[in-house]
Amino acid sequence: MTTPLPKAELHLHIEGTLEPELALALAARNGVELPYRSADELRAAYSFRDLQSFLDLYYALTAVLRTEQDFTDLADAYLARAARQGVRHAEIFFDPQAHTARGVDIHTVVAGLGRALDAAGERHGISTRLILSFLRDLSVQSALETLESARPYFGTLITAVGLDSAEAGNPPAKFQEVFALAREAGLRCVAHAGEEGPPEYVWEALDLLGVERIDHGIRSLEDGKLVERLRREQVPLTVCPLSNVRLRCVDRLEDHPLPRMLDAGLLVTVNSDDPSYFGGYVEDNFRAVTAALGLDEEQRRMLAANSFRAAFLDEPARAAYLAEVEAHRFG
Ligand code: ADE
Ligand code: ZN
Repeated sequence: MTTPLPKAELHLHIEGTLEPELALALAARNGVELPYRSADELRAAYSFRDLQSFLDLYYALTAVLRTEQDFTDLADAYLARAARQGVRHAEIFFDPQAHTARGVDIHTVVAGLGRALDAAGERHGISTRLILSFLRDLSVQSALETLESARPYFGTLITAVGLDSAEAGNPPAKFQEVFALAREAGLRCVAHAGEEGPPEYVWEALDLLGVERIDHGIRSLEDGKLVERLRREQVPLTVCPLSNVRLRCVDRLEDHPLPRMLDAGLLVTVNSDDPSYFGGYVEDNFRAVTAALGLDEEQRRMLAANSFRAAFLDEPARAAYLAEVEAHRFG
């Protein structure tokens, strides 16, 4: 295999990296009953009509994650795979409310993930950040309590907050107070917007939540004024091509708006979202768009460079990673 492009993964839900084999192993270890007897049977359930039908399975399978060690094993398995796909820096979402709702406390989750992330430089050659993501279909009160419970980790393990889960009917405006408090506490802010939801949600994420990056944002193209704003301010959009096809936000990869976004001068990155569920990790996404959309080497190099430009890195680290991208030779 040729050496993959060095890149940052900026849109990755750690719960979405749970491979069927690990799900079954953790279910056995924790005595959790799953309605699937084999990894193949579980994989066969990975067929989705839309975002909600995916989220139903994604939340159901979190039932196997119970102990600190489970979260360490999950994150370490992801980081090992990511390293093989050229990932040098990963900014990883986790959904604390998906665990606290089942009686697993946030300290178990963060301590477990933190153990894998702290070792990631030495074990896998990857620098990391952790992004606490609020479930937008739950209440504001629940988000506020989650933010408070995570305060001991601000600025150490937790760098940023995000907003995910069922988008339609849950506009960013709902979480204005929560994001204001996060910004006051010195956290960086991102939000999913314009995945299934309308361009107005992208405007709200920028203007009401003060986010620095938009996750997905593909529906921004429906609004010329928004495209102009995103281009002028070079707001990064963390695009996830295989996810968009699997969740039927885009009919076929050949129809994906990525080339139009690049042509419009937007700061786009390519990411994997929930790679266990959507058929590929980040290099798999790069390969898929290269084949389906005919991206050339310079476009791929630009996407990789964009990932480091858009990352929450200090300037010396960013410069070092950009030099790696520049030095890459396509095999
Ligand atoms: N949670 C995990 N993956 C997600 C996605 N693609 N959109 C919204 N919420 C998510
Ligand atoms: Zn996502």
